[in-house]
Amino acid sequence: MSDHLTVVDHPLVQHKLTLMRDQGSSTASFRRLLREITQLLAYEVTREMPLTTRAIETPMEEMDAPILAGKKLALVSILRAGNGMLDGVLELIPSARVGFVGLYRDEETLKPVQYYFKVPDGMNDRLVILVDPMLATGNSSVAAVDLVKQAGATNIRFLCLLAAPEGIARMKEAHPDVPIVTAAVDRQLNEKGYILPGLGDAGDRMFGTK
Ligand code: URA
Repeated sequence: MSDHLTVVDHPLVQHKLTLMRDQGSSTASFRRLLREITQLLAYEVTREMPLTTRAIETPMEEMDAPILAGKKLALVSILRAGNGMLDGVLELIPSARVGFVGLYRDEETLKPVQYYFKVPDGMNDRLVILVDPMLATGNSSVAAVDLVKQAGATNIRFLCLLAAPEGIARMKEAHPDVPIVTAAVDRQLNEKGYILPGLGDAGDRMFGTK
């Protein structure tokens, strides 16, 4: 993947995203829609996964059939909202390995504070897909990419639902080698680092907390 930013403007993605943004959508709908959109985005973010072939026999004849090559990919969720995107990808790629980065945003400084980090071994040989629905200031995203790079990852993608121009610019500056795939780029951040028009706090909306 060469472009730094891919916006998946597929009508199904855009339709489901509108339903998610609507403050009237229930926690259950929000979670289901996030899983469904994530699957559609996953299609795009995994587009360049390498293939090899395997000799198989169909009921008709033998063939060398395409099959994914290399080590299983690593999905790394940025806690806690990233967890809402895990199931969607895992339904498509059940053998993926899963890691977690625990970062919370200090509401005063908007800077990320790390409290957990656990990723699969062999990160240097894996395609690593970081998932977090909201790319807002970019502070946690940049910190999460820093951490997976320190763990050896070199082939990294960032998968999100919504991105702010500020976060995209910050990621591009810090990690120009990490392509971003998103369903939409919104207008701007507010003074608290929330995306406008956005959808509010993704974690609160998917887990029903406040
Ligand atoms: N995180 C969220 O959940 N929502 C935003 O708008 C920004 C960061």
